[in-house]
Amino acid sequence: MNIEVAVRERISVRAFLDKPVSRETIAQLFETVRWAPSAANLQPWYVAVVSGDRKQRISDQVIQAVESGVGPHPNFPYYPNKWVEPYRSRRFRCGMALYNAIGIKRDDTERRRQIWNENYRFFGAPIGLFFFMGKNTGHGAWIDMGIFLQTVMLAAKELGLGTCPQASLADYPDIVKKELDVPEDWILVCGMSLGYPDDQAPINQYRTERMSVNDFLKWYD
Ligand SMILES: Cc1cc2nc3c(=O)[nH]c(=O)nc-3n(C[C@H](O)[C@H](O)[C@H](O)COP(=O)(O)O)c2cc1C
Repeated sequence: MNIEVAVRERISVRAFLDKPVSRETIAQLFETVRWAPSAANLQPWYVAVVSGDRKQRISDQVIQAVESGVGPHPNFPYYPNKWVEPYRSRRFRCGMALYNAIGIKRDDTERRRQIWNENYRFFGAPIGLFFFMGKNTGHGAWIDMGIFLQTVMLAAKELGLGTCPQASLADYPDIVKKELDVPEDWILVCGMSLGYPDDQAPINQYRTERMSVNDFLKWYD
C-alpha cells in the first residue's frame, strides 16, 4: 500500500471481525514498527500485547473500577482541565459524529456510557496493545511515542488490520501495570485496539473532518 493511501485511509476502527490475529502477523507488524525514529535514537517505548484471558481480566477490572465510582487516574493529564476554543468545539463535533453514526441521541446518557465503556473492552478487538514510555527520558520522548504510534497504525493498515488508539485505555494504569507486571518507572501512554476491521459496522462508517491546509500552514517568502 502506498503511504499516501495509508495515511488518508487510516481511520479509528471501533468494531472488529471475530477473526484472530496470529502471533506471526503481530511479530511482522513490530518488525516494521521498530524502525520508527526517535530523538538521539532513545527508543523510549515498551509495548504489551494482550489477548485472551489476560485481556479479559484487564477489561473486567477496569469496568468494575468504573462502575464502583473510581475515577480515571492516568499517569499524566491527557486533556486540559478547562477546554477553550477551537479545541472545545472540535472535541464536541468528534463525539457527536460518533454518536450520530450509531444513532445515539445526545441526551441518551445511558447508551453513551455503554459505548464509552466499550473502550475498556477494546471495542471487541481480539488484540489489545498498551504503550509505555520510560521515565527520565525528557519531554521529547512524548514526540517519539507519537511517531511510534502512527507507525504502528500505518504498518497495521498495510497488513489489513484496523486500529483504534485509545487514551481511555490509560485511565487506570495501576490495574494494567499490576496485571502485566510492568514496573513503576514506565508511564502508560495509551492503549490500542487491534484486529481485522468490520467494514460493515455502522460505527466504522463515519469519517472525521480535518482543517484545510490553509488553516494551519502559512508560507513565508
Ligand atoms: C492518542 C489518541 C488517543 C485517542 N483516544 C481515543 C479513545 O480513548 N477512544 C476513542 O474511541 N478514540 C480515541 N482516539 C481516536 C480519535 O478520536 C480519532 O483519531 C480522531 O477523532 C480522528 O478520527 P480518525 O482516527 O478516524 O481519523 C484517540 C486518538 C489518538 C491519536
